[in-house]
Amino acid sequence: MTVTPPITWIDNPRASTIEHSQAVADLFPPHIARQTREFHSRIPGYQISPLKSLPRLAAMLGLGGIWVKDESFRLSLSSFKVLGGSYAIYSFVKEALGAESLDIFSDEGMKLVREQLGEMTFAAATDGNHGRGVAWSATRLGFKSVIYVHENTSLPRIRAIESNGARVVVIKGTYDDAVRQVNEDAQRNGWQVISDTSWPGYEDVPRWVMQGYTTMFSEAQEQLAAQGIIKPTHVLVQAGVGSLAAATLGFYSQLFGAGRPKSVVVEPDKAACLYLSAEIGDGEPHSFGGDLDTIMAGLACGDPNPQAWKVLWDTADVFVKCPDYVAAKGMRVYGVPLAGDPFVVSGESGAATLGALTFIMQRPECAPLRESLGLDSRSEVLLINSEGNTDPDEFRKVVWMGRHPVPDAYQQTVEI
Ligand SMILES: Cc1ncc(COP(=O)(O)O)c(C=O)c1O
Repeated sequence: MTVTPPITWIDNPRASTIEHSQAVADLFPPHIARQTREFHSRIPGYQISPLKSLPRLAAMLGLGGIWVKDESFRLSLSSFKVLGGSYAIYSFVKEALGAESLDIFSDEGMKLVREQLGEMTFAAATDGNHGRGVAWSATRLGFKSVIYVHENTSLPRIRAIESNGARVVVIKGTYDDAVRQVNEDAQRNGWQVISDTSWPGYEDVPRWVMQGYTTMFSEAQEQLAAQGIIKPTHVLVQAGVGSLAAATLGFYSQLFGAGRPKSVVVEPDKAACLYLSAEIGDGEPHSFGGDLDTIMAGLACGDPNPQAWKVLWDTADVFVKCPDYVAAKGMRVYGVPLAGDPFVVSGESGAATLGALTFIMQRPECAPLRESLGLDSRSEVLLINSEGNTDPDEFRKVVWMGRHPVPDAYQQTVEI
């Protein structure tokens, strides 16, 4: 039986030739991170998420530093996603009221919104985390929410959405089918869709979602600066539809232009729509078919976000796809660190990039990739732990029971 290798990659050499990306300029104007951060900092309970340093692991892998933006406790919701949903709802409300600025969380702000907009229902499709963030934000602001999930969504994920005040609708098919269905039903019922992916004619909301994510990087830059680091030299970011990756690379391209960190976009091999789009190489986003059967639930998307794709086509240096055992290894490495490094609680989608980084640094066949990216002992690598323990049953199966072990053929490592 052939075993899937841990890392399959494709270079995107055009990214290093783009001096000015119009897609970046359109989606991430210079002021945007300050604006989103200002909004998030007014949410009751807001705190900067930790930036954790793993110096021992970095030394073992032959790197200068590994920095993990740990989103596992963001606003008590276990993932970064609420940053996007909340900012999109806020921006939508602000625009609907024609307001320049709005303190939406103050008593006065809430009263104004209720008076002017009345009853409103926000709707979203989700693999779990986005829906939870939209439900949480809508409830905080006194609105209703309806969240669509696909039939393979686990019960703990559904319960987590319901416990934040939403009605959950389960549909047949995949995440991409849920996106289509919620849009159709919303039109019939007069709901406002808060989607983390775009389609022709529906671009404002997903742009706001992506912009909302930049708060993470504005925080991370401050945290890195406090350690004497101006910018990461490399960033590895996990992708479903690509909105998180676009926000990451968009933020850094906006800030540093051609001097942005080298970037790697990581996807599950069972749902590698961005990798496929890079492989086809015509500059267009392409859909990845099949049942998207991966443990990385947050990354199980077959249709790229077209807006995000434009940013990634201009800025992502490498696209990687990897099997489930890579994410499972990442979860265990985070959870049981080398002595002296902090532990990190990381779910399947959150841990994919650390898993990938360990294989990239330690597998002999990844030497050309290490070289082309310039990954070495001077590298300061930024990772995003995009979720914590969002599905406790599955989490235990991996971390306690050892599900999805690294195949024997890929346990060998190179000496650094
Ligand atoms: C935990 C987690 N990480 C990463 C992602 C990927 O985000 P995107 O779909 O924007 O690529 C998601 C998406 O839901 C997620 O839930």
